[in-house]
Amino acid sequence: MWQLPRKITMFFLLVAAVGVLTACGARVATAQTQPQTQTLKHSPTAAPAAADNGYVGNDTCATCHQDKADAMANNPHSKLALKHGGTGATCESCHGPGQAHVDGGGDVTKIVRFEKLTPQQIDKTCLGCHANTHPNFLRSPHAKADVSCLSCHSIHKSVPDTKLLVAKQPTLCFKCHTDIKPAFDMPFHHRVNEGLLQCSDCHNVHGTFLNNNIKNTADQNAICTKCHMETRGPFVYEHPPVRAEGCLACHTPHGSQNARLLNVPNINTLCNQCHSPVGADNIHGQGQGSSEITPCTDCHTMIHGSNINAAFIR
Ligand code: HEC
Ligand code: HEC
Ligand code: HEC
Ligand code: HEC
Ligand code: HEC
Ligand code: HEC
Ligand code: HEC
Ligand code: HEC
Ligand code: HEC
Ligand code: HEC
Repeated sequence: MWQLPRKITMFFLLVAAVGVLTACGARVATAQTQPQTQTLKHSPTAAPAAADNGYVGNDTCATCHQDKADAMANNPHSKLALKHGGTGATCESCHGPGQAHVDGGGDVTKIVRFEKLTPQQIDKTCLGCHANTHPNFLRSPHAKADVSCLSCHSIHKSVPDTKLLVAKQPTLCFKCHTDIKPAFDMPFHHRVNEGLLQCSDCHNVHGTFLNNNIKNTADQNAICTKCHMETRGPFVYEHPPVRAEGCLACHTPHGSQNARLLNVPNINTLCNQCHSPVGADNIHGQGQGSSEITPCTDCHTMIHGSNINAAFIR
């Protein structure tokens, strides 16, 4: 009595899902994997047609791969997905039709095994459903360097409480980006190793329109100003380089030997790169404290811009 209504509901959910996915063009392009179509045909009501296209359904896979099937129940590919309208992936959405594999008593040559696929084939399979959220992946530095989805993600063996990642950040990233690690061990650094920030706060590893996989934002500084809101402005008196050149005109993003993550050790040297050189003029004369020894920002405190003073003095 309980089974029937549930199955009928599922069927309508699946029909609706197929409609939506088709409209979005979100369909798996590879020949072996056609999850939406097969999900529809494999809804219980369509069962008689099942064997025709070589799909057997999750329940059959579970008879021999019980461990995988049990674990899948907690995977976003089934759990979350069913909540949000039944667009969840079945075993065969990813592994392709399983009839021949089953008929062969588990013939491993008759089923999609991801370790046998090229990075391009892997990406294509996953992007069959994820192209909408990651439209830039194929032209990202990662894809171009053959770093596939499965270099960072695992479907069956991921670290809990991550987005199906094979390791947590930043460990995951440092496996390959060993050259980046030392910056985060410097005396002044964004506390990524300490867990306060993540690499993915500033980078989108799935590809962006900017260099260095920097997240796409309306203006370049927004990557930084979303956290450092006091520097964002607009100000009545802008300090032009903040907008024109961006935060990186003066700061380094990962880590630095210099306080405040500055590019150069001495603040006055930094300022005098553009204000060459402020010395014993009427304003900065000896009597007022030499700018050679007093950091410029002791007086020009509102260095990112001010609403009160054109010289950024508080
Ligand atoms: C009749 C039992 C049986 C059924 C049903 C079955 N398999 Fe298998 N499968 C096996 C056996 C046996 C192996 C080879 C031993 C192993 O690696 O577990 C295997 C291997 C695999 C592998 C490769 C494992 C590797 O180490 O690379 C995949 C992937 C796989 N099965 C997926 C599926 C999927 C998906 C389904 C449902 C469409 C399915 N199997 C149904 C018995 C079965
Ligand atoms: C979203 C795609 C996806 C779905 C859904 C999926 N798999 Fe997999 N499967 C993979 C990938 C990718 C691998 C390679 C190892 C990994 O990433 O965990 C894999 C590996 C395997 C293996 C090889 C053994 C291993 O642990 O490496 C078996 C067996 C398997 N899957 C069975 C299943 C069964 C049974 C189901 C359904 C209950 C299923 N898979 C659902 C993508 C998927
Ligand atoms: C048949 C469609 C389909 C295929 C193929 C597919 N996925 Fe998914 N994936 C989904 C759905 C549906 C969800 C859950 C809903 C959502 O949050 O988008 C999901 C969620 C995810 C998540 C997010 C997990 C989370 O905790 O939010 C990751 C990561 C992911 N998939 C990676 C992959 C990878 C890697 C592959 C290829 C091996 C793959 N997917 C293949 C449909 C698919
Ligand atoms: C270089 C490592 C890396 C590669 C390659 C990669 N991912 Fe991710 N992925 C991540 C990280 C890290 C996160 C978590 C980001 C976050 O929390 O903002 C993530 C999150 C996700 C999510 C869930 C959150 C979201 O942004 O939607 C999905 C879905 C996903 N990845 C799918 C994929 C697919 C599909 C591929 C291949 C086409 C892929 N990823 C390739 C590292 C990677
Ligand atoms: C606070 C924001 C932020 C965080 C957090 C961050 N990055 Fe970056 N990253 C940047 C910016 C901005 C650039 C561009 C630097 C430039 O153009 O000079 C960059 C550049 C890079 C580059 C390419 C240039 C280079 O230096 O080789 C890599 C690789 C990189 N980051 C990896 C990482 C990794 C790995 C992590 C986490 C361990 C991380 N980033 C954390 C902002 C950040
Ligand atoms: C499996 C190895 C691998 C993993 C894991 C990995 N990357 Fe990469 N990453 C690469 C390769 C290879 C490139 C392209 C070549 C290069 O520029 O270094 C790249 C490029 C990048 C770039 C662009 C650099 C540029 O010059 O444009 C950034 C930023 C980046 N990765 C950040 C990350 C972050 C953040 C993570 C962790 C979430 C991560 N990567 C995980 C291998 C990896
Ligand atoms: C996800 C939030 C976040 C983002 C994005 C971010 N920061 Fe930060 N930043 C912080 C936090 C938190 C601290 C304080 C760290 C601490 O106390 O160790 C910090 C510290 C700093 C400091 C040093 C402040 C001091 O008092 O020493 C500078 C400079 C800085 N960030 C610049 C930047 C720049 C430039 C960017 C963009 C490339 C950026 N931040 C992006 C959160 C962020
Ligand atoms: C013209 C150079 C310059 C530019 C451009 C610049 N900063 Fe700064 N920033 C400084 C200097 C110098 C300090 C140190 C001030 C001090 O020590 O009193 C500083 C300090 C900081 C601090 C530490 C807290 C504070 O306000 O003293 C943060 C956070 C910060 N900057 C973020 C940013 C962000 C985000 C951007 C881009 C929107 C940016 N900066 C652009 C020069 C600059
Ligand atoms: C990348 C170049 C650059 C750097 C570095 C820089 N500035 Fe500027 N600053 C400018 C420009 C351009 C203006 C606009 C006025 C102009 O054209 O002289 C300006 C304006 C100012 C003004 C207002 C001048 C006026 O005429 O009202 C002050 C004060 C100032 N900067 C102080 C500093 C201090 C202090 C530092 C170091 C923390 C610094 N600047 C770093 C380029 C820079
Ligand atoms: C002892 C405080 C003090 C120090 C230190 C200081 N300034 Fe100033 N600065 C002033 C005052 C006061 C003014 C005039 C403000 C006004 O006109 O409202 C001024 C004006 C300026 C102006 C705009 C007027 C002009 O000369 O074109 C610039 C640019 C400037 N300072 C840059 C610097 C730089 C660069 C340094 C560090 C090398 C520095 N200042 C150090 C107090 C100081």
